[in-house]
This record gives sequence, C-alpha cells and structure tokens, in this order.
Amino acid sequence: MKTTIITAGLIGVAGVSMAQAAQLDLICSADVVICEKMVEVYEAKTGTEVNMVRLSSGEAYAKIRAESSNPKTDIWWAGSGDPHLQAAAEKLTMEYKSPLLTEQRSWSQKQAESADFRTVGVYSGVLGWGYNTDIFAKKGLDEPKCWADLLNPALVGEVQIANPASSGTAYTALASLVQLMGEDEAFDYLKKLNDNVSQYTKSGSAPVKAAARGETGLGIVFMHDAIAQTVEGFPIKAVAPCEGTGYEIGSMSIVEGARHVDEAKAWYDWALSAEAQSLMKEANSFQLPSNPGAAVADEVPDFAQINLIDYDFAAYGAPERRKELLDRWNAEIGAIAN
Ligand code: G6P
Repeated sequence: MKTTIITAGLIGVAGVSMAQAAQLDLICSADVVICEKMVEVYEAKTGTEVNMVRLSSGEAYAKIRAESSNPKTDIWWAGSGDPHLQAAAEKLTMEYKSPLLTEQRSWSQKQAESADFRTVGVYSGVLGWGYNTDIFAKKGLDEPKCWADLLNPALVGEVQIANPASSGTAYTALASLVQLMGEDEAFDYLKKLNDNVSQYTKSGSAPVKAAARGETGLGIVFMHDAIAQTVEGFPIKAVAPCEGTGYEIGSMSIVEGARHVDEAKAWYDWALSAEAQSLMKEANSFQLPSNPGAAVADEVPDFAQINLIDYDFAAYGAPERRKELLDRWNAEIGAIAN
C-alpha cells in the first residue's frame, strides 16, 4: 500500500514537471526594475519559467561569446545596441524576423536590417547626464550644460561614468565623443575628465543613482536614467549636452544555438508588442519604445529638441572598431583611472 502511494506521488511530480517544461534563459541589460516587471508579466501570461540574469551590455556580450560553443542563454533583451551589433556581426546571435518587425519604428527596423536580422531595436534613449542640484547649489556652481563644463576643476571627485568595456552606456558615451570631437580630441577630453572622475562603475546607470544619493555630484548616463531618479523624488536634473550628443538603440537578440529557441521567439514577439512595451512607462523606464502603439510617458525626452549627432551604429557596432576603442580606452584612461 505504502509503495503504491509513493509511486503515485512520483507520477504526480513527473506530471507537474512535464506541464512546467517551458523554460527560458534570459539576459536582461536594462534597469533591473523593468527587467523584473517584464519577467513577472510574461511568466503570468504564458506559464514559461524565465531564468533572468541582469548584466550590463558589454558583460552580456562577453558571456554570450564565452559560451558560444555551449550556449546557456536563449535570449538577450535590452542593453545598448553596439554590443548587440557586434554579437550579430560575429554570428553569435540568430537571424529571426518577427511577424511584428514591420510594425516597429523605422530605427528599430533599420537596426535589424543592418545586422541581417540577428538583432532588433526595442527602444531608444539619449545620452546626457544627471546632476544633483543640491550639491551644485552648495558649491555655488552653475548648471553643467555642456561637455566642456564637466572639465571644471571645481568638479574634482564629483563625476562618475561607467567603464565602457562592461557598460553599453559608457561605450555609447565613448563612441559619441569620438564622433562629436574626433578620436584624438575625444581621448584628450576623457583624460582631462578623468581628473574629475571618482569612479568608473560597472553598470551604466549606477553613476546617477550615486548622484541621487548625494555620493557624487554628477553621473554621465542616458537622460532617461536621470529622469527616473527625478521622478523618484531625488534632486536630480537631466541635461542634454549643448555641443551635441549620441543615443542608443536598445536592442534584443536570440542566441545562436539557443536551447529553448521556440520560447525565445515567443518572448521576442511579445517584447515587440505594444502591450509589453507599455510596461516601460509603468516601471519608470523612460526610453522611447520601438512599437509606436506602446504607451509613452510624458517624461520621455523629446528627441526633436535635442542636438543629436548622426550616430553611425554600423561603424561603432563593428567588432574591430569596438575592440579598437575599448583597447585604447584601457591603455589611455583605464591605466590612469583613480
Ligand atoms: C540602463 C538604461 C538602458 C540601457 C542600459 C545599458 O538600464 O536604462 O536604456 O540600455 O542602461 O546598460 P549598461 O549597464 O550596459 O550601460
């Protein structure tokens, strides 16, 4: 009798685990709040068990590359586009044309076309910074409106930016400055800026979170990450640099050789839907969504009012160019970093 009960129990367990078989291994490179929201809503909607890890864009690229002979990740959602483009060029990610592709804004579709459909744009965000208005007021400093203002010696120890090898945000900053000023001039600028930098963080948005807590005066980040802190009630003001600035096309890619490829495609299609992208507004993620049907928060910066460079995604997402700039950053800036 006892044996029968145990056997029945095991069958029951096996039955349950069969029903829960749908699984998805996901790397999320956006802010952890929207990562968790997306996963929670998707799991409730589909019953798929999503194993999510939050990694900065450069780290995510490195992990996918390191695991290419035995992929542990199915899909990489979000994070700035350059490392996604590099992964695509190295065929680390898989060609996929979602039925929702043609619904997306033109920059999202262009990102897909330029990478033979191995990635796609899911949102866009403008690079700038957020500064702590209390700290600036206390120091009697004017609003830092321009890249040039960040070199003010009064800001020594008051600036943070991420490391461009780990962070897509910081790579966007590096590539933007190179496109804005010329490469040698950009490295000169970064060397001078280093005098004011207290820390090169791993994650792109960490600098403005530190500024919100009063640990530093200013964080060079995507403007929407600064605005998220303002909305949380911190004394942070977002700035679009006067000389001009770059922007990201946050992207999504399915890993070549993914173990759960059908589940990855299902997430991919859902993540391009207006329904999924409307979650960004709820999570205080103020990027511009790629699906024009998605809810757009009032706080999303108006791109038309910002002096944007014509960011060359194909050139700066190319493997050789990204590697070359990161190597130079390590040799010239990483080496003198505090
Ligand atoms: C934040 C931003 C995203 C961006 C991401 C890149 O989460 O909100 O728009 O794509 O940073 O992260 P990373 O840590 O790679 O700079």
